[in-house]
Amino acid sequence: MKFGYFDDDRKEYVITTPRTPLPWINYLGSEAFFVLCSNTAGGYAFYRDARLRRITRYRYNNAPLDSDGFHIYIRDGDTVWNPGWQPTQTEPDSYRCRHGLGYTVIEGEKNGVLARQEMFVPRGDDCLLIRLTVRNGSGGEKRLSVFPYLEFCLWDAMDDASNFQRNWSIGEVEIDGSAIYHKTEYRERRDHYAVFWSDRTPEGFDTAREAFLGVYGSPARPEAVFGAGCTGSVAHGWQPVAAQQHELTLAPGGSESILFGLGYIENPREEKWAAPGVINKARAEAMMARYAVPGAFDAALERLKEDWAALLGTFRVSSGSEKLDRMVNIWNQYQCMVTFNMSRSASYFESGMGRGMGFRDSCQDLLGFVHMIPERARERILDIAATQFPDGSAYHQYQPLTKKGNLAVGSGFNDDPLWLIAGTDAYLRETGDWSILDESVPFDNDPLRADSLMEHLRRSFGFTRAHLGPHGLPLIGRADWNDCLNLNCFSEQPGESFQTTGPSEGPVAESVFIAGMFVKYGRVWAELCRRRGLAAEAEEALSAVEQVEAAVLDAGWDGAWFRRAFDAFGRVVGGKECDEGQIFIEPQGMCVMAGIGSRTGEAARALDSVRERLDTEYGIVLLTPAYTRYRPELGEISSYPPGYKENAGIFCHNNPWIVCAEASLGRGDRAFEVYRRTAPAWLEEISEIHRTEPYVYSQMIAGRDAPSFGEAKNSWLTGTAAWSFVSVSQAILGVQPCFDGLRIDPCVPAAVRSFRIRRRFRGALYLIEVENPDGVQHGVKELYLDGKALPSALIPVQEPGRTVRVRAVMG
Ligand code: BGC
Repeated sequence: MKFGYFDDDRKEYVITTPRTPLPWINYLGSEAFFVLCSNTAGGYAFYRDARLRRITRYRYNNAPLDSDGFHIYIRDGDTVWNPGWQPTQTEPDSYRCRHGLGYTVIEGEKNGVLARQEMFVPRGDDCLLIRLTVRNGSGGEKRLSVFPYLEFCLWDAMDDASNFQRNWSIGEVEIDGSAIYHKTEYRERRDHYAVFWSDRTPEGFDTAREAFLGVYGSPARPEAVFGAGCTGSVAHGWQPVAAQQHELTLAPGGSESILFGLGYIENPREEKWAAPGVINKARAEAMMARYAVPGAFDAALERLKEDWAALLGTFRVSSGSEKLDRMVNIWNQYQCMVTFNMSRSASYFESGMGRGMGFRDSCQDLLGFVHMIPERARERILDIAATQFPDGSAYHQYQPLTKKGNLAVGSGFNDDPLWLIAGTDAYLRETGDWSILDESVPFDNDPLRADSLMEHLRRSFGFTRAHLGPHGLPLIGRADWNDCLNLNCFSEQPGESFQTTGPSEGPVAESVFIAGMFVKYGRVWAELCRRRGLAAEAEEALSAVEQVEAAVLDAGWDGAWFRRAFDAFGRVVGGKECDEGQIFIEPQGMCVMAGIGSRTGEAARALDSVRERLDTEYGIVLLTPAYTRYRPELGEISSYPPGYKENAGIFCHNNPWIVCAEASLGRGDRAFEVYRRTAPAWLEEISEIHRTEPYVYSQMIAGRDAPSFGEAKNSWLTGTAAWSFVSVSQAILGVQPCFDGLRIDPCVPAAVRSFRIRRRFRGALYLIEVENPDGVQHGVKELYLDGKALPSALIPVQEPGRTVRVRAVMG
């Protein structure tokens, strides 16, 4: 069942009922001011850090779900309604929500009144703009009262949700004309405030929640809206809010717009006050003035749309498949950009108060956005590298505001160091900017201990190499990519960390997955050495890689698939002798991507085993059979009920590894089949089962062992976005950025006869046409650059500014 439809021309998803299976959200903002906005105008705003600078309050795990946000009430006689249905849930006569790139428009209609609520964060400014347009489509005059309402958060979201003994006495506001200033803690150490304003003088306002809602009132039935109107309350302590009352009289056919804004302002310390106790409003007034100019709202929205079009224009496919085109050209890339902005901090599944930026997560996210914003990718790589320890290991997480490693989690996730090579490799291929390797980067954020990025990568490689276990495979430490495979932890007490309890970094437990990574990214490291004239080091690295490769084919091979690991007692994890967890997806994907067993047949055999054992109609599960009881020697993975998360859920992140692996063997039909199973556009039809947004990937879909098989969770912020984009753009469509140019090496279903791609690469534009006259799945037999035949599948780097035509003939 569908709850809306894609409007590809406008790059929007249009939701046609407010009763989506879960709130379906969008992200507004791409610089510093961010808003999460659901299809019923639920959500919240923050500045840079979702925990420390939360601007509006949001109650997770609330019932009814998603009832805090940016709501506007319309009172029309006896009827009170919201254009987005929530929070009154008055049934609208019609409803539509358009989630576009960086903006959301909600339209509702009730009793002949049409209300349109347009929302976005303009580029270059720290505010949310909301334009409400009401039109009287009825035959008679309409007298309407309009009430915008939002609830301020007292800045630190964690403290706001827990420290009531202090917080209920600190709230402060100022009211000035049509602006409500939230200035809690500004009197002491803060030099920032928030402002809510409208471009028209309201007939009333409230800033105390209990005045607007009532002490026992709720957003579904605010006393002010259902009763005598706003009271002019001035919040002291308790819960400061921004509510206004606007009276409109509309003749038949008449319409009126009101612009509302929610801004964030920082003042230099010495300019904090206009008078004792009165905040300096100059910057806020300037902000309001910018949007008071006629046409300013539309111009800013237009600019936003143009910016997104330019960003997404770096890679465009015309494949003849509507679903594929919309995933590649719009939604997958958009999600990669949101993941760049948010990492794993703020979604409807991540509270914004939890973990910082993940070392491995951020390195992998890079793979999906480096082509759009290479300069920001560069900066990100250097930030990540600065959290590496001198021995090559890394803090598992770091805080975006301070950019410092997170001590509470520490290090010891032994895949982390190698992801730095993966991210840097992607950057180098995209940009050819080798100067990044010479950048001086601190270790452990200590400027006194800095060395080149090249040296950081050397230590990444060296760390893995120096930490091999009894079978010659890399030691797993606290965990590898699979945070929940904790082979050295043995946690027995509720509440203990699965990763950091117990010995945690034992000398026996090994990871076949990290071995696959070492082979794949170790070869990259060797190539970097070679290109930097370090031939002997390159040779030496390759021989270390070969040794690990041999260990994988020996101890890591189970006969029909790659084993997952050896536990702290040297027992196989992910082998046929295991009663549960016999086969895992991760080593099959990573080892085959690394080329292990491609000549000798193990690679194909492993992928066949994936199809035979792990495939389901909704994607490939992470392992089978699911663990049915908790096993302290395996850790968190066995803590989940069967079918959820890492315990045999369909963990979408590693499905694209299988796509890439299948493509590396030239199996285009299968590669596409795996791609399609988890791609949101193909899941739109089963939204009642899938439940999360049909325009973005989710981290996990419940596996076949779960009662809710097919139900997704953790939408938006997942490494699935980046890897899916890599798998579809590079492995399937075959446009591969390389050190020396663009390689064209598609791997498609035999039925695909042609497609076109527009790719901007290092400043030149490549208009690529791929033909497949013989219906093959893989192989390019002819390649032409502006009509001239090329000797290999590589198009050399073109002069910036040039536009070239490329024709590839498969066969
Ligand atoms: C984490 C990743 C991890 C994955 C699998 C995600 O929640 O962000 O770092 O690789 O789970 O455990």
